[in-house]
Amino acid sequence: MASEKLLKELNDQFNFELLSGYYYMAMAAYCESEDLSGFANFFIVQAQEEYTHAMKFFDFINDMGGRVTTQAMEEPKNDYDSLVETFEVALDHEKLVTSKINKLMDLAREENNYPSISFLQWFIDEQLEEENSMETILIKLKRMDGNFQGIYMLDKELAARTLEPIE
Ligand code: FEO
Repeated sequence: MASEKLLKELNDQFNFELLSGYYYMAMAAYCESEDLSGFANFFIVQAQEEYTHAMKFFDFINDMGGRVTTQAMEEPKNDYDSLVETFEVALDHEKLVTSKINKLMDLAREENNYPSISFLQWFIDEQLEEENSMETILIKLKRMDGNFQGIYMLDKELAARTLEPIE
């Protein structure tokens, strides 16, 4: 139902979504070490969301007759100088995910693989939200310019984030 090449790229993305969650768990650990449990919660929920993304690929690869394989994961960046740096890295990471999803869509289109095109469209839409979410917080943090009152208010807001079910 899909070429070996397409199945391999889908499997790579399955692994990359898991790696993304690992990245965000490292960011959560940094925030917790700074006693910012709301920011930590934001990244923990983000890590959980990445796991749900990975599972979408897991299920789709199996539905397409492929075989999922896990890969070695690189060590994420654990040390950050500031919350601003954390969200800069998070935004850059989401841009990288977007470029990978776009390349996957290009390949699915080249192969006229309609199930994959339909499947990947969800991720195209999702990536717009993912980038916007990181960028919005980054802009707020830059405007606060280290103002503790603002940071603690935002920390409180982010403490309320919960994992939303995905269809
Ligand atoms: Fe699954 Fe944040 O990309």
